[in-house]
Amino acid sequence: MARQSQLIFLGAPGSGKGTQANYLVKNFGYKHVSTGDLLRAEIGKGSSLGMRVKGIIDAGHLVDDMTVLDLLKANCDTSSGHFIFDGFPRTLNQAKLLDEQLLRGCATQAVYFKMDLEALVQRITNRRVAPKSGMIYNLLTRPPKRPGICDVSGEPLIHRKDDTEEVIRNRIDVFKATIDEMVEFYTQKGILKVINANAEENAIRENLLSALGLNGVNKDLPY
Ligand code: AP5
Ligand code: MG
Repeated sequence: MARQSQLIFLGAPGSGKGTQANYLVKNFGYKHVSTGDLLRAEIGKGSSLGMRVKGIIDAGHLVDDMTVLDLLKANCDTSSGHFIFDGFPRTLNQAKLLDEQLLRGCATQAVYFKMDLEALVQRITNRRVAPKSGMIYNLLTRPPKRPGICDVSGEPLIHRKDDTEEVIRNRIDVFKATIDEMVEFYTQKGILKVINANAEENAIRENLLSALGLNGVNKDLPY
């Protein structure tokens, strides 16, 4: 059953991977590992890794596979629970590395949040995030109660540097160049579910829970 599986979330920037992952963490005890969050944390700390990758991320390009794999390995131990891999893999090579070096035969379910790429720019330019609490807001669809402040932690909300229209277009181009090979890889393995990510947040959540065999539990909770 999917609840006992490691989960891999695939999808374009802004397709709602982080939003839906937060819900599963809160309600079903999954652990969430987002390579984007890990890389941004390194930048925030000013580590040598962070300084090396900052320009790449701010421009919307991919960091090299081995750097991200090492960071992922240092932050997730699949023997300690069920993880949601959000933002990894991003290439066929990363998908193979994930299989060989982290999943190693674990029961796994891949979910592709498939959406109309034209709608993403508006979603992402209106995103605001709270790095400490991990909450994700949207000025149009999920505004915070107090403008600019996280409902949970009270910290100021951040507008990600790569969430400008120009950088988003680069990120979408990178996504378009790599998604098909990953969809093919997980389809061949017979472990891919595709979710319509154009829908509003609650509808996507229902479809996701249904795809994972988890529907009907705690669905009214805010996260
Ligand atoms: P990362 O942080 O992973 O960014 P991403 O994949 O581009 O995805 P996002 O976080 O932008 O979107 P999301 O799908 O999580 O959407 P969210 O739920 O926030 O990566 C950033 C960068 O790090 C990369 O560009 C790369 O440089 C580097 N990197 C990371 N991993 C790497 C790897 N493996 N290899 C190499 N480089 C790597 O939702 C978006 C907004 O929409 C929010 O405001 C939300 O409230 C809203 N929203 C969500 N769902 C809905 C809905 N249904 N309707 C309306 N609004 C919605
Ligand atoms: Mg995200």
